[in-house]
Parts: sequence; C-alpha cells; structure tokens
Amino acid sequence: MRMVDVIHRKRSGEALTAEEIRFVIAGYTAGDIPDYQMSALLMAIYFNGMTAEEISELTLAMVDSGDRIDLSEIVGVKVDKHSTGGVGDKISLIVGPIVAALGVPVAKMSGRGLGHTGGTVDKLEAIPGFKIELSKDAFVAAVNSHQIAIVGQSGNLAPADKKIYALRDVTATVESIPLIASSIMSKKIASGADAIVLDVKFGSGAFMKTADDARELARTMVRIGQNLGRRTIALITDMEQPLGREIGNANEIRESIEVLRGQGERDLSEVAVAVAAHMADLGGVAADYAAAEAAVRGVIAGGQALETFRRFVAGQGGNPAIVDEPELLPQAALHIDVPAAASGYVSAIDAEQVGVAAMLLGAGRARKEDAIDYAVGITLHKKIGDPVAAGEAICTLHANREDVREAVERVTAAYRIAAEPPAAPQLIYDVIE
Ligand code: URA
Repeated sequence: MRMVDVIHRKRSGEALTAEEIRFVIAGYTAGDIPDYQMSALLMAIYFNGMTAEEISELTLAMVDSGDRIDLSEIVGVKVDKHSTGGVGDKISLIVGPIVAALGVPVAKMSGRGLGHTGGTVDKLEAIPGFKIELSKDAFVAAVNSHQIAIVGQSGNLAPADKKIYALRDVTATVESIPLIASSIMSKKIASGADAIVLDVKFGSGAFMKTADDARELARTMVRIGQNLGRRTIALITDMEQPLGREIGNANEIRESIEVLRGQGERDLSEVAVAVAAHMADLGGVAADYAAAEAAVRGVIAGGQALETFRRFVAGQGGNPAIVDEPELLPQAALHIDVPAAASGYVSAIDAEQVGVAAMLLGAGRARKEDAIDYAVGITLHKKIGDPVAAGEAICTLHANREDVREAVERVTAAYRIAAEPPAAPQLIYDVIE
C-alpha cells in the first residue's frame, strides 16, 4: 500500500478502507509516514469528511496505537464523563462524588488546563496535599474502597492521537468533526470506560461556537461509542457565559463544595444534576432517567455526595478539612472589584474573554509548561439577566500581582449591558442518545 494512493482516494472524496486507515495510523505513529503526507491526508479529510465507518475505524486504530487501561478489577459499570471544555466548568468535581455516592464506580483520568479553559487535575491540586498520581494498584484500590479516584492522564494512551493532534494544530486541520470526535473518543475508550456521558458545550467559551456544530460533534461521538460497543450519550449544554460564578482553581473547588451541599448557582447545579443523572442511568443504579435524577437530588440533599467528596479528598492525600473550612484552600492577597460600565441588565458575558482574563491572572496556562497559581481567579457577581447599576461590582479579580490592567479590560469588555432584560439562557439544548 502507498500513502500517496490513500491521499489521492480521500482527495477524490472516496471512503478509506479499514486496512488503509490502519496502514496510515500505524505508519504515522512508527515514523514511517512523513508529516507532509499526513498533513495532506488531514487536509483531504478536513474538506471531504469521513463516513461513520471510517471514523470508528480511525478511532479504534488510534486506541490500538497505545495502551488500554484495564479496569476489569473494578466492580461495576465504569461510566466516564467528558466535557469538550469551557470556562468555570467544574462539573467533573461535582458529578464524580455524586455518582460514586450512588454506587457507580468513578475511575477517572483527567487533564490539565490550557489557554482559556481550566483542567480538573489543576483544580484538584489546589487542595493541600492532594495527589493526582497514583499507581495502577492504588487507583484500583481507591475506586474499590470508596468508589472514586481521579488521576492525571498517564501511560501511553492513544499516542497516534497525540502526534496527529500536534500536526493538526500547525496545519489548520483542528476544526474537523471526524478528527475531533475520533481524537476525544480514542482517549475515552483507551481509558477503559464501559459507558460514556459527553458534555458537548457550545458558545463563546467553547470549542464549538454554535448549537448545530455541537450537535453534529455529539452525534458523531455517540455513533463512535455505539459502533465500538460503549453506551454513549451526549448533552448539548450552554457555554455562552461561564458556568457558575467562580473561575480559577481553589475558588472552583469552593464552588463545587457549595453545589454538593445543595447550594450554588442554578446553571451549574442543573447541568451537574443532568450529567450525574445520565451517568447514574448508564451505570444501571436506577430504573430510568427520572429515577436516576431523583436519586442524584437525594444524595445531594442527604449529604452523602458531600461525604463521598470528603472521603475522596482524604483518600488521595488531600486535607478533608477544606470541606468545612474552605479558607484552608490557597487564598489570593488582592481582591479587585471591577465596576459595571453602564446601568441596565447583563445581556451577554463572553466566556472566552473571562477565561483569558483568569489565565492572565495566573489561574491558567498560555503554554503547556507554564506554572499556575491556585489561589487566583475571578468571582462573577453578575450573570446574564441580572440587573446592574453603573459602578456596581460585576466581578472580583483575586490576584497575587499588582498589575491586573489587562485582566480588568478583558472582563469589562466581556460584559454586555442592555436596557432590557434578555431571555433566560437555556442550559441544556439537547440530549443525543
Ligand atoms: N480535544 C481533543 O482531545 N481533540 C481534539 O481534536 C479537539 C479537542
């Protein structure tokens, strides 16, 4: 088989065979196919797309390029959850303890943040003592003893995806639904999930800017999951404004604890309840979705979800006292209120700009190797629909540096204030099964 013929066929709009896809992925991972040929193929895929069969084959070939995590020693249906990323997205920190409290094992590998979006692993590391690296045996033992462990991505998972993603980044081929869907799903399947709940976000702070694109990505990923024997469901959720009120690391842990106490912002708690209920439903601990949702609300109201969070933190070496004394989490030295530029109603908050402002304060990374400051971040006092008076604080920046000018400019520009109240934003647009 010759790579040039494979490129030619895809350039002509033909579907590639399983053998061709395997040849490309194995050859590129081994270094036998050069970047220039792979780039040409990626561009042909970008323009001509792939069939559902090709996308599933591509996903499987990328899974087979590396290790698969074997979670068979963990009892129960392992339901994983993936978010396509957003600003203030702390849903994993909330749903993990909820579904664990319901008896669904959570054996989760999470990532770090980059750019305007945060990462679960960074947020957990804001808890004093919390260890995100566990040996395979300690990981399995933690899940078997208290139903939940969250660790950083380790091992050689889908190395083909890693290499192809880096090439897509420099060849303008990231924004291709077959390539995004296979990239995400290859890592979920290699991580050992039996079932997967996807939270596909769209809006100003998300990878997908429109609900239609998010729906297409969701459908493609659900189809891959089904073709590869994993029950998969996707929620299409709003990221037109940051989720909840906190953006950062320590402050997102604080807000997650509030939601687990049954408090917290409605947008955050409603999306968390929906994701958790779908996980519980796929995990088989309830007769149907309605029963799963009632069970989710029950473990929040009954305190079992918060207790599970406490055990989870202690089990990974973190200080569980942070649950009752959040002031034990890292605290910033400076708190700067940002005033509203006008009176009226908040009509939009550009989530990406708020995420970039948090990154500039040190809560996120511009480059992979950057260090982050767990204490800093942003608290939003006003969200879409809230009335505001000129000069009133719309948000507070938590900083450890004096120069916050650019962050102030970005959050000020992120807020749109209109004379009339806007329609209430819809939180969950669709569920794709
Ligand atoms: N996230 C991934 O893991 N892969 C993509 O292609 C895009 C986002």
